Amino acid sequence: MAISSFILFCYLLISLLSHAASSYMYSEDRRDGLFPEILREEAVTRLNELGKVSDAHGYLERTFMSPASVRAGDLIRQWMEDAGLRTWVDQMGNVHGRVEGVNASAQALLIGSHLDTVVDAGIFDGSLGIITAISALKVLKSTGKLGKLKRPVEVIAFSDEEGVRFQSTFLGSAAVAGVLPVSALQISDKSGVTVQDALKENSIDIAEQSLSQLKYDPASVWGYIEVHIEQGPVLEWVGFPLGVVQGIAGQTRLKVTVRGSQGHAGTVPMSMRQDPMAAAAELIVLLERLCKHPKDFLSFNGHSDGSILESLSTSLVCTVGEISTWPSASNVIPGQVTFTVDLRAIDDEGRESVLYELSNQMYQRCEKRSVSCSLERKHDADAVICDSNLSSQLKSASYAALKRMTGETQHEVPVIMSGAGHDAMAMSHLTKVGMLFVRCRGGISHSPAEHVLDDDVWAAGVAVLTFLETHM
Ligand SMILES: *[C@@H]1O[C@H](CO)[C@@H](O)[C@H](O)[C@H]1NC(C)=O
Ligand SMILES: *[C@@H]1O[C@H](CO)[C@@H](O)[C@H](O)[C@H]1NC(C)=O
Ligand SMILES: [Zn+2]
Repeated sequence: MAISSFILFCYLLISLLSHAASSYMYSEDRRDGLFPEILREEAVTRLNELGKVSDAHGYLERTFMSPASVRAGDLIRQWMEDAGLRTWVDQMGNVHGRVEGVNASAQALLIGSHLDTVVDAGIFDGSLGIITAISALKVLKSTGKLGKLKRPVEVIAFSDEEGVRFQSTFLGSAAVAGVLPVSALQISDKSGVTVQDALKENSIDIAEQSLSQLKYDPASVWGYIEVHIEQGPVLEWVGFPLGVVQGIAGQTRLKVTVRGSQGHAGTVPMSMRQDPMAAAAELIVLLERLCKHPKDFLSFNGHSDGSILESLSTSLVCTVGEISTWPSASNVIPGQVTFTVDLRAIDDEGRESVLYELSNQMYQRCEKRSVSCSLERKHDADAVICDSNLSSQLKSASYAALKRMTGETQHEVPVIMSGAGHDAMAMSHLTKVGMLFVRCRGGISHSPAEHVLDDDVWAAGVAVLTFLETHM
């Protein structure tokens, strides 16, 4: 099914389930065989405990190789060992825990997420994926099934996903996937400490030659899955604790500069102005209209292009988050205004079409207003489409988990798009990837207000457990 139909499906569910949502209950008498003491109580306790491991007082902050990150890694390592996993820390500070199962040379299933956080973070972003994976394996250990896994299973807590310290995301997972450029070791933070120095401070000696040794052999890996909080409102909206991720949106960041004629706010008549501020306002409204109604702006011929348009209608999101003006005084017509554009869509070709149309229309409008405009592309990342087989396995596992927990037949598990980047993006360069999203309150993330219900933590754990049971 196309992404658009899935999204449409989600939105249709809104009306169907908006009242069901409040009555979505896990049945009390269904705790048997669902290991609430490990997958719910202990997992929640651990989330809270890890959420206290911070470099800052009064709020959560863990950046690449900071003292708190190292302490968090130690804690995670203990939990991995408690679950019966063999553990180690690699040269990028990633923490690994592995069980070989019945055949150590079979391709491994990797399960991961990140242990670093943003500044003033919530306790679930990243940690939830690490802890649910460890907890599910701990259940297998407690039932004596850990050694019966038909392939090795490895949990990886990645050292850097948010990129707060070095503004370079995925230091950890990109190294494992083999897509981290050696130049990354020389990036420095605000105080001039490089990635290499930061590792050295923690007794990890990494040379440029050894970076390539971190890369996993694709032939040794079967696939990668990641559980993550949704960080958006859709699952709560449709009243579902879990959702399968269809893909991670591609992204383009632009810097738009509009130059006009700087002047006195009192003396230049309106008809004689070349005001870049008013022009920027028009461009921003144009961007919003284009991204809300791409069908009104783009015309495609042919069949496949129709589906691009469909996917854009449901996945395209555009944001102007930063604007600056020169000289920025209340009595001066500005000489220059710059603003950023963040544009994301699940379809790369569609994103290109939007950018093409956007720049055409922007230049036209600037010409009409006699201001000069330039668009600079600052960053591009292609979309990642999750593996359809892995996704359908995660979907069945989630469905079965929710059925086991509620004792009721479920609606189909929603399939949604991720607008945010994740370690799975880097890992997709190594192997097939699949992701499971967990509902969060109000769609809020990157904030201490981030919250996942204890029962939803449990549901995620049961889903991972169910998924692992299909690998026996
Ligand atoms: C273990 O896995 C390897 C690699 O897939 C395979 O060649 C071998 O036959 C397997 N061994 C057993 C005992 O299944
Ligand atoms: C999905 O799984 C089926 C059956 O297990 C297999 O035939 C097919 O090749 C797989 N597809 C992909 C894309 O891996
Ligand atoms: Zn995250």
